[in-house]
Amino acid sequence: MRPVIDTISQSISAAIEKATGQKDASAMVTPATDAKFGDYQSNAAMGLAKQLKTNPRQLAEKIIAELEIDDICQEPEIAGAGFINLRLKSDFVAESLLKIKADKKLGIEKVKKPRTVVVDFSGPNIAKQMHVGHLRSTIIGDCICRMLELAGNKVIRQNHIGDWGTQFGVLVQHLYELSVFKKEDENLQSLEEAIDTLSIEDLEVFYREATEQYNLDDTFKKQARKRVVELHTHSEPLTLKLWEHIVDESRKNYQFIYDILGINLHKENERGESFYSEKLAGIVEDLKKLGLAEKSDGAICVFPEGFKNKEGEPLPFIIQKSDGAFLYATTDLAAIRYRINELKADKIIYVTDARQKLHFEMLFTVAKQAGWAKDTELVHITFGSVLGEDSKPLKTRSGENVKLKELLDEAVKRARGVVEEKNPDLSEDEKEKIARAVGIGAVKYADYCNNRTSDYIFSFDKMLAMDGNTAPYMQYAYARIKSIGRKGEEKGINIEKELKIVKKPYLGEDAELALAKQLIRYGEAFNCAIADFKPNFLTAYLFELAQKFSAFYNACPVLDASEDIRPTRLLLCELTAATIQHGMEDLLGIETIKRM
Ligand code: ARG
Repeated sequence: MRPVIDTISQSISAAIEKATGQKDASAMVTPATDAKFGDYQSNAAMGLAKQLKTNPRQLAEKIIAELEIDDICQEPEIAGAGFINLRLKSDFVAESLLKIKADKKLGIEKVKKPRTVVVDFSGPNIAKQMHVGHLRSTIIGDCICRMLELAGNKVIRQNHIGDWGTQFGVLVQHLYELSVFKKEDENLQSLEEAIDTLSIEDLEVFYREATEQYNLDDTFKKQARKRVVELHTHSEPLTLKLWEHIVDESRKNYQFIYDILGINLHKENERGESFYSEKLAGIVEDLKKLGLAEKSDGAICVFPEGFKNKEGEPLPFIIQKSDGAFLYATTDLAAIRYRINELKADKIIYVTDARQKLHFEMLFTVAKQAGWAKDTELVHITFGSVLGEDSKPLKTRSGENVKLKELLDEAVKRARGVVEEKNPDLSEDEKEKIARAVGIGAVKYADYCNNRTSDYIFSFDKMLAMDGNTAPYMQYAYARIKSIGRKGEEKGINIEKELKIVKKPYLGEDAELALAKQLIRYGEAFNCAIADFKPNFLTAYLFELAQKFSAFYNACPVLDASEDIRPTRLLLCELTAATIQHGMEDLLGIETIKRM
């Protein structure tokens, strides 16, 4: 179903053309700021009047005179400097409600031209547990994929894990040297035996020790570099085996987190940095041949157009260090080529924090200059930081990154407290299930409901509050509607049958009409969210929906309503529940619960 706002915009643009001769003028339609003034408003007359040097109110009159919209809206009104206010007709709302009822996607439209979109998100670094710094890329990226798919695109998820580079030579060398693995005579044997017992926690400790040693000890440094070569050339089986174990162990850790968070990422989505290792030399060669790469201070660099440092000198995008090593940038260039040539991407979206802004700007420019991304849209989606209550990046007391697993465990533990309080009579099993849905949902929802480009303060108390724009509030709203259905059945009302007989919804009460208007706006909210990949448009919509439902439920009895109006009210309940469920589960990947 086409969103009402689009139909209105089109009609107004047509009226502007008739009134002024201006083609394709923007109708500038937004939802009304206050229901007192109607449902939508057009701000087009003001700007246009300035341009045409006429009076905006008079221009608005002319536009209205040409406007053909009376199947949708009541008589338009002009307010203030020349705003055109529009109010939907209740007959139109009622008809639209039936269309929504018949639509599995509840009014979300498909795009006219589906595209192949590669989404690069999450990208944890191996040999470390996932920490809070990975939360946003992982869940925002997942939501972007869900939206794009729902709109009918082909989405290819890519997990660009950090599994390659000097640091793994360092870790491997440290493992070789660790005395715990040295039986006097068959030392390597024992490391080989020990491989499978090395957990992610062990690896994390060894990794830290290894880095310290690398910075202090030159002989160790040399040995570590040799291990990197062994890795690159596959010349030492044990080195390779160690690296494989490190990757596997790390994967177990992040797959566990993905499963808890409901993230659709699996091994087959993994194209880590190592995947591109064979292609890196070719990238440097090709950029040299194109005349884009040159030697500068011993390193091979590209100086992409338009990038200057503070002194006004060209900024280098380094693709090979003087010791021959390739970099993060080189791998990303290889990845772009692979995604365009092999995966046939029309668009590539990268989801990382804002600190990588310059990297991606330079990367995109180099790829365009090289002619590798001629028809491909490249987008970097950024987000702000997760802060502690002290407004500084969230850290543990000892100053370390907060592990995601610990954070999520704590959320579930606290949610359990909420459940105990609300519903102490549930079984242990049910309490645990609900606590999980609420705790994990709360962490995700609290992230989504902030504008993704802003930092936000992480607060368990706030995200688990039962009032306000939180997951538990939404989950409770959903459970409450579901309980109406159950009570109805107990009373002997055949809800399915009643829903079927609604041929013309009766929307006599203000609260009914307001709720119905909100229900038919789901597709509009979706379009706003996907336009700029901002999940907070979805949470804001869902929260408003739950509030309008609450107002409706307070004003209008449902099960005790007379038989002529009860079916409409049951339909409003049904569609509200379906929309909340769809928004929470299908778009945000957050569980709803039938009983809470
Ligand atoms: N592993 C990287 C990090 O932790 C994120 C990878 C982002 N994707 C990319 N193609 N560079 O910062």
